[in-house]
Amino acid sequence: MASLSPPEEAAASYHHRHPKRYSSSNGVELVPDFVKRPKISLPPQSSNFISPSEIESEFSHHDPDVARINNGSFGCCPSSILALQRDWQLRFLRQPDRFYFDELKPKISESRAVIRRLINAEHDDEVSIVDNATTAAAIVLQQTAWAFREGRFEKGDAVVMLHYAYGSVKKSVEAYVTRSGGQVIEVQLPFPVISADEIVGRFRNALESGKANGRRVRLALIDHVTSMPSVVIPVKELVKICREEGVDQVFVDAAHGIGCVDVDMKEIGADFYTSNLHKWFFAPPSVAFLYCRKSNNGARDLHHPVVSNEYGNGLAVESSWVGTRDYSAQLVVPSILEFVNRFEGGIDGIKKRNHDSVVEMGRMLVKSWGTQLGCPPEMCASMVMVGLPVCLGVSSDSDVLKLRILLREKFSVETPIYFRPPGEGEVDPISGYVRISFQVYNKPEDYHRLKDAVNELVREGFRCTSL
Ligand SMILES: Cc1ncc(COP(=O)(O)O)c(C=O)c1O
Repeated sequence: MASLSPPEEAAASYHHRHPKRYSSSNGVELVPDFVKRPKISLPPQSSNFISPSEIESEFSHHDPDVARINNGSFGCCPSSILALQRDWQLRFLRQPDRFYFDELKPKISESRAVIRRLINAEHDDEVSIVDNATTAAAIVLQQTAWAFREGRFEKGDAVVMLHYAYGSVKKSVEAYVTRSGGQVIEVQLPFPVISADEIVGRFRNALESGKANGRRVRLALIDHVTSMPSVVIPVKELVKICREEGVDQVFVDAAHGIGCVDVDMKEIGADFYTSNLHKWFFAPPSVAFLYCRKSNNGARDLHHPVVSNEYGNGLAVESSWVGTRDYSAQLVVPSILEFVNRFEGGIDGIKKRNHDSVVEMGRMLVKSWGTQLGCPPEMCASMVMVGLPVCLGVSSDSDVLKLRILLREKFSVETPIYFRPPGEGEVDPISGYVRISFQVYNKPEDYHRLKDAVNELVREGFRCTSL
């Protein structure tokens, strides 16, 4: 092994664990050559598909006592990828100087090339690897802040975002846009959602108010899959509307994008798009990409918020060195592609099966609890909102937090819960929704445990006021 270069070692190490996937004809372990492949998601031969027991072993580090039906929050990483990550860490520690000068940048570039092909972007330099969606949002919003401060945007010009935008991203908007004099317009969305048209209509109205009094909408910030409550947003339609309405730039926050929904940069057409790889693409914490369309003039003035030696050399290069730190999570991206291709249909197959299963489990729960799903199946991906029985008396954000802790501590079920305040004139609506996720390691019994736990609480006459 000592004479092999890192990816060869990584591949050899992977081969050692999964001999079926890496046969070598000449005794030398081959590095998978993703760049030369005509297609990236070629499924393996059916006889080579990962088996249920192999899946179990890949996730055997999960706490076996917990029904972990919350992949959406922190994702998961199989043990074979964690082992490869460790190999990269040791490779660095063995001879850091050589690794830094000879290996790091080319290897990050390989990961970027893999991502570029996965997301159907035009150029590798449209893809930067960053830590997470939060960092990606800071990069885009920092640029907006500079435009206000340097007088390219007028005070009062607007940024439009969804009311359900993720908390950290909303805080970034406050820090970068509001403080710089920008007006922030939130698109109020209905929940439960009945159709994508409802969202499209409300988005159009918000753009109208953004443009009132001659103001310009400088940026639209659109989630691909909202976090809480979780709904798939019709991003393609919304991006198209932004173009028709003269919005300067569109940024899609798809923290739950890759591995969860279709992620095709040419089809979606946004200026910026970020997705975590550690949520639904099995990356170790933490890796995300930020796509910046090359034809977008603003792309040249994007910078990583942590300024380092590469400042001014383009965002992708800036992001590949933000000071001394552990870059290993970024280096295993090509190996993750190999991992997902052990499943029938690769990442697309995983995505479809997760969706079908989460809908099936959601339907099983609403049938048992006499409630409803938060959106039609075509508006959810690998997560779905499931109404809790009204008699639990969920009536505040603090209730849902306490109920979540109860489910964790008493029933060993891990799932986030959403409080939906009653609308005007509504009598006894469903006010609590659990967000369930489905990932390859999940089993129906995880969801049955949740079902039984809630039914037990109902039988006992439990109400959140008792917490
Ligand atoms: C829509 C959305 N945006 C941003 C984030 C933040 O992701 P991260 O914590 O990986 O930066 C999340 C996390 O769940 C999210 O759901």
